Amino acid sequence: MAQQKKGGSIGIFDSGFGGLHVLRSITESLPQYNYIYLGDTARMPYGTRSQDEVYTFTKQAVDFLFKNDCELVILACYTASSTALRKIQQQYLPQKYLDKNVLGVLIPTIEDAVISTKNKKIGVLATEGTVSSGAFTRELIKIDPAVIVFEKACPLLVPLVEAGEHNGQTTKDILRKYLSPLLEQGVDTLILGCTHYGILKNQIRDITGPSVSIIESSSSLPLKLHQYLENHPEIEKKLGKKGASIFYSTGVTSRFQALGSQFFGKNIKVQKAFLN
Ligand code: DGL
Repeated sequence: MAQQKKGGSIGIFDSGFGGLHVLRSITESLPQYNYIYLGDTARMPYGTRSQDEVYTFTKQAVDFLFKNDCELVILACYTASSTALRKIQQQYLPQKYLDKNVLGVLIPTIEDAVISTKNKKIGVLATEGTVSSGAFTRELIKIDPAVIVFEKACPLLVPLVEAGEHNGQTTKDILRKYLSPLLEQGVDTLILGCTHYGILKNQIRDITGPSVSIIESSSSLPLKLHQYLENHPEIEKKLGKKGASIFYSTGVTSRFQALGSQFFGKNIKVQKAFLN
C-alpha cells in the first residue's frame, strides 16, 4: 500500500467495513486522490441505535477524519446519512469547519433510482434506523412526487454479512422473505440502502430476476463525487494526489483486515482509531 504524502485526503466513514465496497469503486474511478477510511466497528451496528447516538458517533468520526487532514468526508453509511447528515451540515460544520464539507450516500442513489424507474414503484432495503428516519421516502418524493416508495427494514442482514454468511442458505432464505413484499408490489427499481448489502447483490439479483434495476452506492457515488469535485475547485485543489489509502478501525484490527479485504477486493493494512 502506498504511503500517504502531502495534501489533504477524502475521508470515507462507515459504521463498519461495508463502506469499503464503496471506497473500492471510488478508488477505481478516481485513483489519483488520497483516501482515509474509518470504520467504527467497535460500536456497530448503527442500524439499531437511536438517532442521538448515531449523531454523536458520526460527529466524532468527522472530527477524527478532519484532524487527520481530510478536506471532505463522505458518510458511506446510510444510517448516518439518513439520521445525522442534515444536522452535521446545518449545525456542526458552520460552528467548527467552515471550509470543509460532509456528504452522504442517500442523494446519489436516490437520483439514480428516480432516473431508473419506469413504473414509479421503488423498493428500498435498509436498516431499522434508516427506515424509521423516513429519509428515503422523503427525499425520493422531493425529487419526483409521483413515485411510490416501499421501504423494508432488514435487521438480520448486517449480522449475517458480519458473520461472513453472505453466501449461506439462511441468508438467501431471509433475503427472499424481505424481498417478497416489495416484489409483490411490482417495484421495478430496488435501492440497496445499506452499505453491507452491496456484497449480497448477486444473491438479491437471483431473487429479483433481471427485470428489476438494482441501485447501490458503489455504482452511484464515483460519478457524483467526480462532479462534486469539478464544481468545488476550492476543495479539489487542496487534495493530495498520491493515490494512497489509509484504513482505520475502532474495533479489532485483525478481524477488520480479514473481512475488510473481502469488501475492498485486495489486502488492506488497518490501524486502530480512537474516537471521542
Ligand atoms: N453501515 C450501515 C448502513 O449503511 C449498516 C450497518 C450498521 O447497522 O451499522 O446503514
